[in-house]
Amino acid sequence: MYKKDINRRVCVAPMMGYTTPYARKLYRILSKKSFLFTEMIAAKTMIHSRNKDLVIENDGHNPVALQVGGSNLEDLNKCSNIAYEYNYDEINLNVGCPSKSVQKGSFGACLMKDKILVRQCLESMQNNKIEVSMKCRIGLGKEKNYDFFEEFIDETLKSGIKIVYVHARNAILSGISPSQNRSIPPLDYNFVDRIKNRYPSAIFVLNGGINSLEKASDLINNFDGVMLGRLIQNNPFLLREVDKRFYNINEITDVNEELIFAYFDYIKTKLEIDSIFRLLSPILQIFFGVPNSKIFKAKINDSIKSGDLKLIESIFLNFVKSKKLFLNY
Ligand SMILES: Cc1cc2nc3c(=O)[nH]c(=O)nc-3n(C[C@H](O)[C@H](O)[C@H](O)COP(=O)(O)O)c2cc1C
Repeated sequence: MYKKDINRRVCVAPMMGYTTPYARKLYRILSKKSFLFTEMIAAKTMIHSRNKDLVIENDGHNPVALQVGGSNLEDLNKCSNIAYEYNYDEINLNVGCPSKSVQKGSFGACLMKDKILVRQCLESMQNNKIEVSMKCRIGLGKEKNYDFFEEFIDETLKSGIKIVYVHARNAILSGISPSQNRSIPPLDYNFVDRIKNRYPSAIFVLNGGINSLEKASDLINNFDGVMLGRLIQNNPFLLREVDKRFYNINEITDVNEELIFAYFDYIKTKLEIDSIFRLLSPILQIFFGVPNSKIFKAKINDSIKSGDLKLIESIFLNFVKSKKLFLNY
């Protein structure tokens, strides 16, 4: 049976190009408890890609959800089985991405136009082995409409799912870019509050515009969980505080040499299968907000060209040694 005792109080949002297996490794070193997501993976890619193992990889970074984009019922059913085989804790349907290419493939936010189809997608994903969930917006277009959102949730919860992640702003499907779609449509947390009152036993995780851990701490009193995207994209090292702040665990992870060793031990095994930039990209955020780190950054940039991971690791070790106080403040 798939019922696992998983706490989704703090989730790291799915982010294409960012929440790679390497980022998830770093997140997991920093926080044992937060609930992680893959990038969105198109159902067809999940089923047919020759890089399948690389793309879907879960190296024991649980608790973690695999996010899928698609609307073909048979494909989605296969994807649930794949998520189970790869030991994910949950499979999540993307009903929030507004990009043009995703619309062409008939998935993402445009699915909110067809709540019956979304219900059917979620039904076809249920296989009694893995938890199924959805990530959606609060509506479509320029006007907010709570009734539309409520009717959408009424229909989709009929599928039997119990967990919904809500990016609490509309998606605008034409005229603005995906990135503008994360800032222009106004946020409305009240929609999530109201829907939770209607379905007290379902889990609604709030997402959108939570730009500090302080804000997350305030919101967690009123919602089942919070999902953090760009905050962690910019500064993944904030996750070191999450277990203590949100899960009552009396420990903050140190940013030290051990962390660098653990991270590099992992990515060394992937050097043959992925680009050095993707392998290093998550840990490069260690420089975020750290004063006088220019020299280190320049050294890293030079050594990336050489591809010498041992050398790059030694630069990070020196950086951590000399900035320990700042990094663990
Ligand atoms: C670079 C980037 C890529 C994203 N990719 C995805 C994705 O693959 N799937 C998804 O559901 N949302 C994606 N999102 C949206 C985030 O999951 C989240 O809903 C959004 O950023 C709002 O949360 P935030 O204000 O905490 O960043 C992406 C966001 C960013 C910044």
